[in-house]
Amino acid sequence: MAPPKTVTAKPIIVERLTHHDIPEICALYKRVWEPRKAEIPADLLKAWTPTALEFSSSMEGVTYFAARRDGKLIGGIGCWLDDGACQILHLAVDVDQRRQGVATALTNAAIEWARHNNSFSVWVDALSKLEDAGAMFKRLGFSECGLLHRHQWSEDVRLFEKVL
Ligand SMILES: CC(C)(COP(=O)(O)OP(=O)(O)OC[C@H]1O[C@@H](n2cnc3c(N)ncnc32)[C@H](O)[C@@H]1OP(=O)(O)O)[C@@H](O)C(=O)NCCC(=O)NCCS
Repeated sequence: MAPPKTVTAKPIIVERLTHHDIPEICALYKRVWEPRKAEIPADLLKAWTPTALEFSSSMEGVTYFAARRDGKLIGGIGCWLDDGACQILHLAVDVDQRRQGVATALTNAAIEWARHNNSFSVWVDALSKLEDAGAMFKRLGFSECGLLHRHQWSEDVRLFEKVL
């Protein structure tokens, strides 16, 4: 009998996002958020699924990283500095690529970027209902440091921080 075939997952590559990648990352955000439109306020959904033009403008102040596997863009994250602290934004991973360390690799890239830019801490806000995100940030050593009630279009928001 032939031995069972072993399928080796291709490595995850995380790199700085360039203007060339804008159509792909906008498509990723649509794939992640549009199926969840019933649970996300419309204004947030609009902000989280930018057009190519909107995303291009946001790149002026925000550094983005993209995760690729086998050439396909499967995850993205943004980070920017304000008052010496780094805020993480727009973290998303394709549904069929989850629980394989993609968000971990992206968040670690953001943390490295923050360190390199002399940031004192990294923080992120996440809708309370996004429990996957909360679990992931805690797993990466972030502590939950606050809860803002009805803060984003009436949604409760949890705050997580990692002091560097
Ligand atoms: C949250 C999200 C980014 C996680 O991406 P991911 O690539 O699956 O995360 P990772 O594989 O790096 O997970 C690392 C660890 O986080 C925790 N974690 C991640 N997803 C989890 C879930 N659904 N439930 C419980 N723990 C979870 C686990 O401890 C996991 O390690 P394990 O798989 O060895 O148990 C992804 O679920 C996503 O895109 N969700 C929708 C968008 C979103 O919520 N973005 C965050 C906005 S702030």
